[in-house]
Amino acid sequence: METQTLPLKPIGGYIELQLNPGRIFHSKLLPLNTGRNALEYILRVRKYSLIYLPYYTCDVLLEPLYKLNVACKFYKIDQDLNPIIDFEIAEKSCFLYTNYYGLKTETINKLARSIPNLIVDNAQAFFELPLQHIDTFYSCRKFFGVPDGAYLSISNTLDVKLEQDLSLNRFSHLLKSIDLNIEEGYTDYIENNKDLCNRDIMQMSSLSTQILAGINYGQCALIRQENFDFLHEHLASKNLLKLSRASAAVPMVYPLLLPVSGIKQKLIAQKIFVATYWPNVIDWVEKDSFEYFLTHNLIALPIDHRYNIDDMTTMVNILNTLL
Ligand SMILES: Cc1ncc(COP(=O)(O)O)c(C=O)c1O
Repeated sequence: METQTLPLKPIGGYIELQLNPGRIFHSKLLPLNTGRNALEYILRVRKYSLIYLPYYTCDVLLEPLYKLNVACKFYKIDQDLNPIIDFEIAEKSCFLYTNYYGLKTETINKLARSIPNLIVDNAQAFFELPLQHIDTFYSCRKFFGVPDGAYLSISNTLDVKLEQDLSLNRFSHLLKSIDLNIEEGYTDYIENNKDLCNRDIMQMSSLSTQILAGINYGQCALIRQENFDFLHEHLASKNLLKLSRASAAVPMVYPLLLPVSGIKQKLIAQKIFVATYWPNVIDWVEKDSFEYFLTHNLIALPIDHRYNIDDMTTMVNILNTLL
């Protein structure tokens, strides 16, 4: 009797979820499960014992520090969101700077020339390419409809085989946003975010990888730039932040810093959902600090691929009635 070898790939059966094949934007980088775990990866590879973190950042970045027992010192930023380095940077330490809103690449270029162990947090700057020899990480869910996923640029790798994460139990908010609406998915979004806490460093899931491979990045970037430029043209005179977008920069949001607080709540009441970057900062800093002011008064206006100039006009008109 003839024996037949089994095909490795199953053929037939039900039709699977069909996603557009495309290309991965950061195809040369290490795909991991979360941005915070990308930071953990860096800390493990480099064995730093101390990290300088900005007060103005997300508290999930502390997770790897607790895990690895890495000490942390916080630093302040100035009115242009640049770091205030009025202290000696200790040996064997690293200095993390966030590319705020995707608009601080020039600062990163300068820091890269002057600070020895710079780590760039590009969670808000997905489209920026990493600088050579500068450890840099990205978080995908701030820019695209995936529940997790990160990229890491680093020259050395950890000598361990990373398991692949599974995202399927973190998709409910994304599915609800389509089948119901974005508001119906919000509670799930909060719950699914909690599921990202205290996970091991893993490879990015297949599901997030495949969704990210199907995105038209050129189009997404262009829409963000056009929306940003429109808002800047109409709101720059009211904005306490002196912004300029380098021609290649693709911002995450339009950051509108107002002298008054409370506008955010009024926008949310009109279904313009603006996030707070970052609620934890309120507990970390003095009330009279710039970071406190930023957290309270900065309105992060959405400019992503879901929106066009009509939507931007709506936001400007509503803001004009409130200011
Ligand atoms: C500036 C910044 N860096 C890093 C992270 C961590 O990314 P992730 O949620 O993918 O771990 C976040 C938010 O979560 C963030 O806001």
